[in-house]
Amino acid sequence: MSETAIESILHEERIFQPPAEFAASAHVKSLDEYKALYDRAAKDPEGFWGELAERELDWFEKWDKVLDWQPPVAKWFVNGKLNISHNCLDRHLTTWRKNKAALIWEGEPGDSRTLTYAQLHREVCQMANVLKQLGVQKGDVVGIYMPMIPEAAIAMLACARIGAVHSVVFGGFSAEALHDRLNGAEAKAVITADGGFRKDKVITLKEQVDKALANNTVPSVQKVLVVQRTGEETHMEPGRDVWWHEARQNVSADCPAEPLDSEDMLFILYTSGSTGKPKGVVHTTGGYNLYSHMTLKWAFDLQETDIFWCTADVGWITGHSYIVYGPLSNGATMVMYEGVPRPSNPGCFWDVVEKYGVTIFYTAPTAIRSFIKAGDQHPNARDLSSLRLLGTVGEPINPKAWMWYYQVIGDERCPVVDTWWQTETGGFMVTPLPGATPTKPGSATFPFPGIVADVVDLDGNPVGNSEGGYLVVKQPWPGMMRTVYKNFERFRRSYWEHIPPKDGQYFYFAGDGARKDEDGYIWIMGRVDDVINVSGHRLGTMEIESALVSHPSVAEAAVVGKPDEIRGESIVAFVILEEEYEPTDELNKELKQHVVEEIGAIARPGEIRFSDDLPKTRSGKIMRRLLRSLASGQEISGDTSTLQDRGVLDKLRGGA
Ligand code: PRX
Repeated sequence: MSETAIESILHEERIFQPPAEFAASAHVKSLDEYKALYDRAAKDPEGFWGELAERELDWFEKWDKVLDWQPPVAKWFVNGKLNISHNCLDRHLTTWRKNKAALIWEGEPGDSRTLTYAQLHREVCQMANVLKQLGVQKGDVVGIYMPMIPEAAIAMLACARIGAVHSVVFGGFSAEALHDRLNGAEAKAVITADGGFRKDKVITLKEQVDKALANNTVPSVQKVLVVQRTGEETHMEPGRDVWWHEARQNVSADCPAEPLDSEDMLFILYTSGSTGKPKGVVHTTGGYNLYSHMTLKWAFDLQETDIFWCTADVGWITGHSYIVYGPLSNGATMVMYEGVPRPSNPGCFWDVVEKYGVTIFYTAPTAIRSFIKAGDQHPNARDLSSLRLLGTVGEPINPKAWMWYYQVIGDERCPVVDTWWQTETGGFMVTPLPGATPTKPGSATFPFPGIVADVVDLDGNPVGNSEGGYLVVKQPWPGMMRTVYKNFERFRRSYWEHIPPKDGQYFYFAGDGARKDEDGYIWIMGRVDDVINVSGHRLGTMEIESALVSHPSVAEAAVVGKPDEIRGESIVAFVILEEEYEPTDELNKELKQHVVEEIGAIARPGEIRFSDDLPKTRSGKIMRRLLRSLASGQEISGDTSTLQDRGVLDKLRGGA
C-alpha cells in the first residue's frame, strides 16, 4: 500500500458535494437517483441491462436472452446481432449529427484535422473496403501499430465494420514486443504508419514493423497497410506493403456494416499479468459496446455539446473505450492529440483545452503530478473556463494531486471523477457519478450501477470497514473480458480461482488491494500481485526479468517497483551477472537499453543494482517484499524466518 493512500485514509475528511448547477442538468442528478439505479440493477440485472441495450444501441436483431452465465463464462445479449461501427457512425448520419464534429485532431507539430460523422464514416468504409481487398475477412486478426492520428481510430472501426478482430499494439512498444503480440494473435495483416511525432522527434513505426516481421518470423502476416504521416523515406516490401493513400483510390466509400453476433470477438488487447508473457484480453461486441457507452455517458455526464478529450493512447484500453468506442457510440465530439507535454512545450495540453474549448478532460495522476512540477504558470496562462468535468485513471491518485487538479485546473467548479477499472473490465467499475456522488480526494467512491464490487479476504468474506482486502466483483457485467486469447485456462486461473468460488458464488479478482471506509467509500491501494504501475503503465515484473535474462551477461534478475513521486512507481532491477562479466557503468546502461529494445521505453529500469545473490526462501522463491524494502531504502520489517541466507540482506544493503 502506498504511503499517500494511507495518509488519505487516516486524515481525509474533506468531502466535495456535486455542484448544484451541475447536478441539475446531469444524467444522474442525486445520490438517491444513483442508489435507485444501483438497487434496480442489483435486484434485476437482466432487466436493467436489457432496457439500456434496447434504449441506447441499434440492433440488427434482438437478443433471445440478456445473460447466459455459466461461471466464469458470460454471454451477453445472446444471439443479438449488431455492429459497433454502425452504432458509432451510421446511426448518427440520419440525425443532425451527420455534420457534427466526431473527431478533432491536433498533431504534435501543430497541424490539425476535423472529421465530421459523415466524413469519418466515409474514411472507415474506405479502409474497410481496402482491408477486404487485401484479403482480410470476418474473424481474421489485424494488428494495429499506430501513432495518435485519426487513422488509428479509422483502422479500429474499419476492422469492426467487417468483423475483423483488431489487436492494437501501443506505438511505444519495441519491434520485439510487437513481434510477440502479432505472433500470439496470428495476425493476418498489420495497419501502421510510416511514423509519427513524439517529443519533437520523428518515430519510425514502419521500421519497427519491418523488424518485427523480419525473415518471415510472423508467417501469418500477409499484408501491411501503411498510412503516410511523416513523409519520411520508407521501405515498402513488394507484395506485402501497401500505401493507404494509394489503395483508397481504388475502392468505393460504400461498405455496409456486417451484422455480427453479440458475442463475436471485437478485439484482443495484450496486457501484463503477474506471470508469464502478456495475455491477450478478449472483448466481444455487444456487451462491450453497451458498457463503454453507458459508463462514459453517466460517469462523465456526457452531453450533446461536450468536447471530450481523453489524453490516453489508443494502444491502451482507455483509448479503446474512451477515445474511440464510448464517445462515438454516444455521438460525442472527441479530441485526439498526437503530442505529450515536452520541454519545448510544457503547456501544450492547456493549449489544446483552450483552442478547442474542451469541456471534459481525462488524464492520469502521473500526468497531473508532472503538471504540478512544471508549475501553475502554464495552466494559469490559458483560458480553461470551458472545462466542466475532470477525470483521472490508471493509478491511485494521491490527495495532493487530486486537490491541485480540482483547484488549479478545475477552478473549484469541476467535479473530479476518479475512475477505477482495467483492461479486463472494458469500462469504469468504481467511479463517482458527477451529479450524484460526493467525492473524497483519493477515493474512487462507489461501484457503477450493475457492478457488485466488494473488498474481501482470501476466503471471499467481506473485510471490516477500513481493513485492507482484495477488490473483487461478484456478478458478471456486460463489459467484462470473455477469455485470455487462446488460453481459457489462464483466464480461469488468473481471475476466478485466486479467491476460490464458494457456494456457487464466483469472485472476479482484479489484482488490486482496497479498503472501504466507514461511509462505504472504496479506496484503491494498488496491485497486490507482481504487476507494477509506472506512469500509469502496467508492467509485469516477470516480463522485465525475462527481458534482462535474455541478455548474455545476466544470470538472474529480480524486478520490483519503488515509490516515485511523479511516476507512482519506478523500476528497480537486482541483477546477478554471469561469472565472466564485471559490473560496470557501461553494462548498467547496456542492460537498461536492452530492456527498451525487448519491451519498449516504458519498461526502462530506473535503477539496476548488481548483486551476487538474491534473498530467497528455502524453496527458492525470491522474496520480493524484502527487495521492495531494500529498493526504497526502508528498514526490513516483518518475518524473515523463511529466508535461506540472512547474510544476503546485509550484502544487498551495502551493495547499492
Ligand atoms: O492497479 C489498478 C490501476 O491500473 C490497473 C489496470 O491497468 P490497465 O489494465 O492498464 O488499465 C488502466 C486503465 C483503466 C488496475 O488494476 N488503476 C486503474 N485505475 C485506477 C487504478 N488504481 C487506482 N485508482 C484508479 N482510478
